[in-house]
Amino acid sequence: MCGIVAYIGNKPAQSLLLEGLKRLEYRGYDSAGMAILSDRLHITRAVGRVAMLEEAVARNPLAGTVGMAHTRWATHGDVSERNAHPHRDDKHGIALIHNGTIENYAPLKTYLQEKGHRFASDTDTEVLAMLVSELYDGDLETAVQSALREIRGAYAIAVICEKEANTLVVARKGSPLIVGIGDKEFVVASDGSAIVAHTTQVFELDDYQVCKLTRDDFRTSTLDNVPVTPKIRQLEMELEQIELGSFETFMMKEIFEQPEALRTTMRGRIDEHAGQVVLGGVGSYARDLVRARQIVLTGQGTAYHAAMIGQYLIEDLAKIPAKVEYASEFRYRNPIIVEGTVLIAVSQSGETADTLAALREAKERGALTMGAVNVVGSSIARETDAGVYLRVGPEIGVASTKAFTGQVMVLSLISLFLARRRFMSVDACEVMLEELSRVPDMIEKALAENDHIKRVTEKYCRNENWLFLGRGYNYPVALEGALKLKEISYIHAEGMPAAEIKHGPIALINDGMPAVFIANKGPQYDKVMLNIEQVKARGGRVIAVATEGDQNIKRHADDVFYIPDISDALSPLLTVVPLQLLACHAAKLRGHDVDKPRNLAKSVTVE
Ligand code: G6P
Repeated sequence: MCGIVAYIGNKPAQSLLLEGLKRLEYRGYDSAGMAILSDRLHITRAVGRVAMLEEAVARNPLAGTVGMAHTRWATHGDVSERNAHPHRDDKHGIALIHNGTIENYAPLKTYLQEKGHRFASDTDTEVLAMLVSELYDGDLETAVQSALREIRGAYAIAVICEKEANTLVVARKGSPLIVGIGDKEFVVASDGSAIVAHTTQVFELDDYQVCKLTRDDFRTSTLDNVPVTPKIRQLEMELEQIELGSFETFMMKEIFEQPEALRTTMRGRIDEHAGQVVLGGVGSYARDLVRARQIVLTGQGTAYHAAMIGQYLIEDLAKIPAKVEYASEFRYRNPIIVEGTVLIAVSQSGETADTLAALREAKERGALTMGAVNVVGSSIARETDAGVYLRVGPEIGVASTKAFTGQVMVLSLISLFLARRRFMSVDACEVMLEELSRVPDMIEKALAENDHIKRVTEKYCRNENWLFLGRGYNYPVALEGALKLKEISYIHAEGMPAAEIKHGPIALINDGMPAVFIANKGPQYDKVMLNIEQVKARGGRVIAVATEGDQNIKRHADDVFYIPDISDALSPLLTVVPLQLLACHAAKLRGHDVDKPRNLAKSVTVE
């Protein structure tokens, strides 16, 4: 949610910031802005994509080697130039950009108005800019620390001041912020993708920390000005991972990256000789995990769907009672955490506000917490007791694809890790691990159907209402298929258990309505066939995801997407692939921006 990038060094800041903003655009794209400090403060803002800001600064270039830029996902105030960041005060020439939300902005605004400050926007951010200005007494770092002591909410901010041309101050609480250390220069950003082209030496700020940067040095402190020493680490990211290469969209690129990504997820984690899963990130908690009395899985969006599959896997394979819940519900529901509860937080970004809050709530109540997270060093990854990284590489497309299969893969590994240490025999575990290791090759085969999937999508993509139906392990995949279609193609789609249609949704079926059935060979295959017939009888058009070699399905379905033969428990890793491709083609055919769907942002750091 909102992307920020800031620079202090000796290079012209404008082009560097624009390049950084483009990398961060997946975080928000309703407006963008930039402030550069030279002899005075220059600000340019524009409604729309970063390209609009680029045009605006091209008309009126900003010279200077200190500056910052922002791409916005609106929370307070409509999408307009006056609400775009940076916000500034005129008294001291202070400019501020912000990712997050300030909860107590209303009383602070009244207080500042009484002090004579005039506001030009409807944002909570401008209140913070004015507060810094109000408290400014010749030292920007001190003013920022003082202002943040008055703030409730979440923030990653960058602040510059006309009166201190050699200073950049940044701070964070709840929203991510990474500082990249270069040679007499620093690049600060919401994530590593805006930094990696300049340096791979980075550190994260912790909550309630402020960092003052000059060209030669930096100083990190708490809000009470107690110095802290950050942990400097290597940013593990390659430039090519965040570039499109030969693909038209990041979503398509990431769908096709899945085989390689999952090979990396599994690397070093399967001990074939011992028929066991090895999870380094579980460390000394292995015993507590194996003895868990209850496992709660939580997440939002696509991660929630992966968590649902995790619940099925854990109960089915490891025989530990498991449940899944939206993090946004769990955190406010007064949930019961019995002794021996393990909470698994599933998240691509590791920054989703609700998931982070659910994790903290569970921890407070005595649960052991574990993360299934992609972004290394993210808040969830740092706050959990144990964790298993997805290792699928940066995911840029707003619609999550490779992170989903990465999450399901990690949850499969955790389930087998537990199962083998509880009731599963070495032989049974070996069989599943062998199959798991073939999943990347099988996804490659599923991807080879891409042209056929595109042709089928062309037939149906003008329909405005779709159903996605599955049973057992593939019920969450039906939900995920529907989510993928609706979020990028704006088609109304509902996912549900196939048996549930009789209880209402079947009333929606009219002539030609597409219903996507996940009908792989599994224990519920015959039941799915029954449900297909119920839809066909009412004029629905059936698209089925089926197992290679299944000729019978052709008698029932209008169109078929085949996947290789795989056991039911691991089938979601394959059945989701044609649905990802279908959604991607549908969005493209309908003329939408696949990577930047309207109203959405990739990393949701607000409630
Ligand atoms: C947003 C994204 C989804 C993602 C969800 C949870 O809604 O658009 O793709 O699944 O947040 O994000 P997380 O980073 O926690 O997996």
